[in-house]
Amino acid sequence: MEEVKQNPVQEAKPERKKIMLSGIQPTGTFTLGNYLGAVRNWRQTQEDFQCAYFIADLHSLTVRQEPAKLRKQSIDAFALLLACGIDPAKSLVFIQSHVHAHAELGWILACYSMFGDLSRMTQFKDKSAKHADNVNAGLFTYPALMAADILLYQPDYVPVGEDQRQHLEFTRDVAVRMNSIYGSVFRVPDAYIVKAGAKIMSLQEPTKKMSKSDTNVNAFISILDEPNVIVNKFKRAVTDSETSVCYREGKDGINNLMSIYSVITGNTYEQIERDFAGKGYGDFKKAVGECVAEELRPVRERFAELTADKAAIEAIYRKGAETASHVAERTLDKVKKKIGLLAK
Ligand code: TRP
Repeated sequence: MEEVKQNPVQEAKPERKKIMLSGIQPTGTFTLGNYLGAVRNWRQTQEDFQCAYFIADLHSLTVRQEPAKLRKQSIDAFALLLACGIDPAKSLVFIQSHVHAHAELGWILACYSMFGDLSRMTQFKDKSAKHADNVNAGLFTYPALMAADILLYQPDYVPVGEDQRQHLEFTRDVAVRMNSIYGSVFRVPDAYIVKAGAKIMSLQEPTKKMSKSDTNVNAFISILDEPNVIVNKFKRAVTDSETSVCYREGKDGINNLMSIYSVITGNTYEQIERDFAGKGYGDFKKAVGECVAEELRPVRERFAELTADKAAIEAIYRKGAETASHVAERTLDKVKKKIGLLAK
């Protein structure tokens, strides 16, 4: 029988998986907002992209931290990423400070960051107003470090929320600037837009973003809250004086609950309105609370299992640091060479 020869031109070249990278600071527990707005999507994107996710512990030093607490929060945040379904067999997961190249490229990029641009960062302005007694240089050069975090891995996409968009723009500007001076050094990443409806608001003041630093614990859901706590917090959620479950301008509390319910169940607003027609807010709040509790149950259980075996977590982040360092150093070496630092 004659052998069938494949035409080499027609043989499809396997397409490079696009690279996606993001980081999260280890300050405090993650909220339902972090989960639905970011981490839950990270779990899904690992199927279609080559992903890198890390705990941005160096960034959290821009605000004064208590050492023992920072250590605990870093390991907990790392375990939470795993508990949320980030799989070290599929994605690169690591802790920023374990990979020296971040701080090193951060310095280099600071030398290509303009004082004027850094002064215009809204986060710098907000944080320096909030921590007026500690307006340190790190708070100012934070975007240069964030640019380093990103550019080291040559990602195609960075999933960012509204609050980090300006920093990503800054990163793109630095990359373009370096590329125009030295030829192609960095891939210029695009923002990856997280689907609408995932911005989660406070349960007590639904015009404000849900925040883990809210002094009212009823305003936010922590990913690790027990099911009955979750259901109770939703029962107390602030709504309005009307009665019908419908998505409408001005009904911020109900809109927020509908958006949470819709993200988790996949139901559209129209479907939700139909399902809850003639029922009161009480029934709806109960349904939202229960679906959130069910969604978070496996995360909480997995987190408990993971943190019971510290050695296993350590092995995962050490391996992550090793692989990440390998990737990051390739870029760092290239940059050093391009800008004229003498090779050793
Ligand atoms: N600055 C981000 C935040 O506070 C965290 C972060 C640090 C990050 N480095 C990053 C996010 C790189 C995306 C890519 O939320």
